[in-house]
Parts: sequence; C-alpha cells; structure tokens
Amino acid sequence: MKNKRVLLGITGGIAAYKITSLIRLLIKSGAEVKCIMTPASCDFISPLTIATLSKNPVGIDFWNKQDGTWKNHVEYGLWADIFIVAPLTANTLAKMVNGICDNLLLATYLSMKCPTFVAPAMDLDMYAHPTTKRNLALLTRDNVMIIPAENGELASGLSGDGRMSEPETIFDTVHFFLTESEDLKGEKILITAGPTYEAIDPVRFIGNHSTGKMGFAIAENCLKRGAEVILISGPSKIEIQHTNLTHFKIQTAQEMLEQVQANWGEMSVGIFAAAVADYRPVSIEKQKIKKNDDYLTLELVKNTDILAWAGSVKSNQQKVIGFALETNNAFENATVKLKKKNLDFIIVNTLEDEGAGFGHETNKISIIDNHNKITKFELMSKKIAAKQIVDYLKNFKK
Ligand code: CTP
Repeated sequence: MKNKRVLLGITGGIAAYKITSLIRLLIKSGAEVKCIMTPASCDFISPLTIATLSKNPVGIDFWNKQDGTWKNHVEYGLWADIFIVAPLTANTLAKMVNGICDNLLLATYLSMKCPTFVAPAMDLDMYAHPTTKRNLALLTRDNVMIIPAENGELASGLSGDGRMSEPETIFDTVHFFLTESEDLKGEKILITAGPTYEAIDPVRFIGNHSTGKMGFAIAENCLKRGAEVILISGPSKIEIQHTNLTHFKIQTAQEMLEQVQANWGEMSVGIFAAAVADYRPVSIEKQKIKKNDDYLTLELVKNTDILAWAGSVKSNQQKVIGFALETNNAFENATVKLKKKNLDFIIVNTLEDEGAGFGHETNKISIIDNHNKITKFELMSKKIAAKQIVDYLKNFKK
C-alpha cells in the first residue's frame, strides 16, 4: 500500500486496544497512517502509543492546548485516500448519522472526500437494538461501508454479535479496496439495468419499482476495473459517464432485447440486472383510454425472456449471469431459473430480507452457481454488493 494515505478514527470502546495491530499491519504494508482519537478513546488507549506506532502526531482536539495551533479537519479530509473509523461506538455512529460534529473526528468525517469504512463494536444488546440497526442502515445510505461486527466473546462477559471485526479482516477489506487494479482489462461486459415501461396508451404504461441502482453500480465497478461496458437501461434517474461506456437508453422490453441481440456477439460477459416486464399490452391504444366503463380488461402478451435468449446462444467463452428477485422459496426458485436459462451463476435477492430490493441503497445477496454452490453475503450497500458480484465473476471458472 505504498503511497496510500490512511486516516484512522478511534472512538471510545474497549476494542480500541486492538487498533495497535491494525496500525502495525497498515504501516508494514507501506501505507502512511494518521490517527484521530475522540477524547473518550484516550481512556482506553494512550495517544502516545498510537502516535508512536503510526509515526505521526495524533489529532484529538480542534486546537493544540500547548501552543494554541489549530488542527484542521478539512486538511485531514483532503489528505486521506481512505478513512476508517474503528472501533465505531453506538454514540459516534448516532452522531455521524445526524451530522453532529462536537469533536475533531466527527468534524473530519463531515469534511471527508474519500471513501469511509466503519467497524462497529458494542455489546450485543446495543448492537441488536433497532436504533443501532437503523443508524447503520442510514450510514450505508450515505455510502459509508460497514465492516460488520463479528460474533464472539464480549467485554461484558456475554457472548454474541457486536465484537469488532479482527484487525486482519479490517486490513484485508481496506487493502483490497485500495489496491483494486484494472483486473478486467480486455473484458467486454453487457449489462441490463432498470425497469422497462410497456405502453398502454400515449400517457400510461405498465412498469415496476426498479431504480436501476444495482445494475448501474455493477457497470461502474466494471468500468473502474478496466472493462468495456455496454449498458442497456430502462428509464432511470441515474447517470454515469466513462470513456469505456456505451449507454443505450430504452423504454420497452422489446427495445432492450433488440439492443442485447445487436451487441451480444462481441461480449465476453452479460449481467442481466434489469427488472424486465414479463408481459406487454397486445396493442397500444392510439388515444388516451377514457374511463367510460366500470371494468377495463387489458390483454397482455409475454415478452421474450432476454436473459434466457442470451443463455441459449452463449458460446463456451461467454458467461451469462442473471438475477432473481424472489418473495418466497428464494433458493429453490432461483436454482430453477439458473438451470432453465442456462446461466453460469445467478444472484438472488429476496424481498423477505429487510433493506434488500427495489429503491433501497442496500442489498442482501446470495450467489448460486451452476455447480449448485451457494455463497451468502451480509447486508451491504449496492456499490459494495456490485463489487462483490464483480469479484465473484473475476474468480469464476466455467
Ligand atoms: N429477465 C429478462 N427478460 C425478461 C424477464 C426477465 O432478461 N423478459 C431477466 C432479468 O433481468 C433477471 C432474470 O431474468 O436477470 C430473472 O427475472 P425474474 O423476473 O425474477 O424471473 P422470471 O424468469 O421472469 O420469472 P418469474 O417472474 O416467474 O419469477
């Protein structure tokens, strides 16, 4: 991690003593480390220890009581390539969510320009409390990445969820994030995203609640990693730009199918994240339908399954990845889709999971591959879920 600048925020929990190991791992990997401590954390670990290990002065107050100099939180924000708050207490969590900045660490968080990770640590009842869960979900929505607490023995003597992730795990997560390379150079990836709108008359359509967040996040991650991407999206408010991106904006399932068919031959991978309407009206009324009758029947006809089409024509070199959004029997239903549509793997999300599905910033996914191997992931932001999916793809052998 040579030349990488890591800003470490330490808050007042017993797990603060483990941060010494994290600092040593970071320093050993070549990173430059600066630390900010909340006043409460100084009761748990000495700033002298932290300053010595990190080879840099520690920021605690807004100003230096000895010489009256100002500690500039904005400068910290500009300096860092990554900000990690570990351990993250329930108190600092709640303050971060609400934009309170009554200490240097919190003011720095609000000035931060770089990606932020947090590693929560608290007793099991605090970690399980709805307030904490809500606050973590809100933080995720603000694009902060959570390194989930683990299960184990806690300082209270109790055992359960709430123990800070081990320093090695925090290090691995951050190391992976900072050293992500152009590992997809040469890949040509087609991605479908968003809903489709099937017109009923000139003013109405059949649609769904998809926002396109998941598909766009996957496209962004692939682009960041050097792939050429063809994104075919239904109506969505999201905009992305990149020199390696070709973006086709469509409305209907038929238009999506035509774009996929026109481009598929060149592709090495297809990731079909769109929520395609399964049916469309047989005919589109030329004029707006008037509400003359008590009942109105629309005749619908099935749309071509675009994913199944790609699965049926794929070559041995091409990988086809589908999504399954399920409300019940998620794994059984998804496995049927995987086989029926001849997929390499399928990403399952179920509306049974809180925080997953349409419109949420977060997602809880599992992946089933064509050898029936199931990999489950924790609830995470859609951007991180996208990265996990692309990592899985990178390591996937047909
Ligand atoms: N899909 C597609 N074209 C369609 C319908 C679905 O490409 N006409 C793709 C979606 O992009 C997704 C996968 O198929 O990757 C699963 O879609 P889903 O609606 O969950 O499943 P279906 O196969 O349509 O089955 P059902 O609606 O009965 O659950």
